[in-house]
Amino acid sequence: MVLPITSKVNSKGNLEIGGVDTVKLAANYKTPLYVIDKATVLNSIEDYHRAFKKTRLDYELIYAGKAFLCKGFCKILKQNDFSLDVSSGGELYTAIKAGFNPRRIYMHGNNKTLDELGLALRWGVGNIVVDNRAELRMLSKLRKKVSIFIRITPGISAYTHKYIETGKEDSKFGFALGSEALKYVKEALASPNINLKGFHVHIGSQIFTVKSFSRAIEKLMKFSASVYKKTGWQVGELNLGGGLGIKYLSKDKPASIEEYVKTLADQVKKQSKLYKMKINKVLIEPGRSIIGNAGVSLYTVGTVKKIPGVRTYVSVDGGMSDNLRPMLYGARYEALIANKADQKNRKRVTIAGKHCESGDVLIKDVALPNIEEKDILCIAATGAYGYSMANNYNRQPRPAVVIINKGRSNVLIRRETYQDIVRLDI
Ligand code: LLP
Repeated sequence: MVLPITSKVNSKGNLEIGGVDTVKLAANYKTPLYVIDKATVLNSIEDYHRAFKKTRLDYELIYAGKAFLCKGFCKILKQNDFSLDVSSGGELYTAIKAGFNPRRIYMHGNNKTLDELGLALRWGVGNIVVDNRAELRMLSKLRKKVSIFIRITPGISAYTHKYIETGKEDSKFGFALGSEALKYVKEALASPNINLKGFHVHIGSQIFTVKSFSRAIEKLMKFSASVYKKTGWQVGELNLGGGLGIKYLSKDKPASIEEYVKTLADQVKKQSKLYKMKINKVLIEPGRSIIGNAGVSLYTVGTVKKIPGVRTYVSVDGGMSDNLRPMLYGARYEALIANKADQKNRKRVTIAGKHCESGDVLIKDVALPNIEEKDILCIAATGAYGYSMANNYNRQPRPAVVIINKGRSNVLIRRETYQDIVRLDI
């Protein structure tokens, strides 16, 4: 499903999510509004736990905070035996403020500052995923014992959008597989402050071909075997990153969570047999596949501009400030009219945002029922990388985020006000 799993059309013909009428949500909380269905989040979380339990491998699930993070969401993760991947001081601060166990935090980033690393060590962050030489040296100098993973760039393609592909040799992330990585593994092993737990690899995001993950594991295990031969150090834990794709359009066919986890586990087992190396734990960092389909965005329709023989522009009260993905990656979405969820699609229109750019288009050519001013438009699958990439372009306040659970709604993040907009101005 593209929409949250609890979605249905109610007796009024409105879209209902988690037992709550989305038209009422729009009236109560105003628009634009991000809506998250807790049941869908919990369903994906359970799918991950179930799939891993079947593999009988020791595992750790780490949610990638960059997909969507706030203090309330940290609580859900904590209650569901998830660790957390943070990739900036701000994400780290959010987790600490939410009372998240720092031992279960994984600190990422290709250019962590000394300040960020200092905070991570002061707060007792359990794991630093080391990306480069400078960082390794900074950590050695901080004179505090720290556990790390070394991020390896395996040199493979993930067949996804080039902006979100990270595993190719030509990448700003990680140590290149081979002699470069080996050199720094040796340096880490020689440092008295550093406890090298294992390797990390992340090949990209919104990946449909699970074969790419297998290929990454194959390369990583081959490298691990050569490290063992040359240093006598055996890799304990493998952090395989995130990247499982989700359905944005009904026709999309991503692998299921079960299929993805099985693919990873089968390959880890096969390779560890081949090299006679026992892997103590497999870790993954899913973001999008936890929160993506759990979220929708609600907008109020404003002007409708018909250009005969060309197209009809339907402008909504948000746009590239709350969803940058169409502009950045040419991402496609599906939509429906929340207050006309029972009506047939009649014609194709283009959903435009309210920002001062012609490129501020949320969906080009989408079939919808007859659309009018004040209709509530719902765009599906905006839970991941929507709010987290939201911005204040044109000094537009960022929308609120509400979470729906069993017929009740709660604000996770309040809407920005105009006062918030000027709060930093001096
Ligand atoms: N681990 C690492 C080290 C990552 O860099 C990422 C995503 C993840 C895990 C989570 O990947 P996921 O399971 O969510 O695919 N803004 C882009 C996505 C950028 C992903 C960056 N890294 C988008 O909107 O498509």
